[in-house]
Amino acid sequence: MSKIKIAASILAADFAYLKDQIHLAEKGGADWLHLDVMDGHFVPNISFGPFVVGAIREHTKLPLDTHLMIETPDRFLEDFRKAGADIITVHQEACIHLQRTVAHIKDLGAKAGVAINPATSTSLLQDILPDVDLILIMSVNPGFGGQTFIKGSERKLKEAKDMIARTGREIYLEVDGGIDTETARAVIKAGAEVLVAGTSVFRGGDIPKAIQALRTGIME
Ligand code: DX5
Ligand code: ZN
Repeated sequence: MSKIKIAASILAADFAYLKDQIHLAEKGGADWLHLDVMDGHFVPNISFGPFVVGAIREHTKLPLDTHLMIETPDRFLEDFRKAGADIITVHQEACIHLQRTVAHIKDLGAKAGVAINPATSTSLLQDILPDVDLILIMSVNPGFGGQTFIKGSERKLKEAKDMIARTGREIYLEVDGGIDTETARAVIKAGAEVLVAGTSVFRGGDIPKAIQALRTGIME
């Protein structure tokens, strides 16, 4: 189980104290920082862009796992990479020429991820698997933190896990939305290796303890 990674999603952090909150997540043993970029079009919410990613980069060595919930992400890939994003994930639903977008991310020297919404079939990932470094299964409809995990996401994780295994390639399988100690166990059983957690990490009052609790919950 030690290879399970926790990607702390700063969307649930207190942005007035972002640097401190990130350092607490580091102290608690977060493996990655998950950065949710929202444009008010692809999702009904607006968060932040490359400028904030760059500001975070100045204060952490943790890999920046950048989740682009934006339309036509191609326009901004270079900006996010320059700002310090290590992994750039785009949505299958937002990319007409997905293979081109993924190739562009890799040309920029970042790892490339593809995310799918809860109502998008895992079968749509098949033809992009040879090119990606990460698959992200959304277990809530993207746009907001603090939503309830959608049951059935475990089935999609299992399907994605099998598809990945058939490629023989190393591809991270990540899950995002409604992850707490209880759902963490279910998604790990289904094959998830990277758990994105926002509310359960940042909203309980003790960030390091919350990350440790998530990890202990996983180990049990
Ligand atoms: C939702 C975002 C998530 C969000 C998860 O659109 O992609 O990363 O921060 O938050 P929780 O862990 O609160 O469900
Ligand atoms: Zn996310």
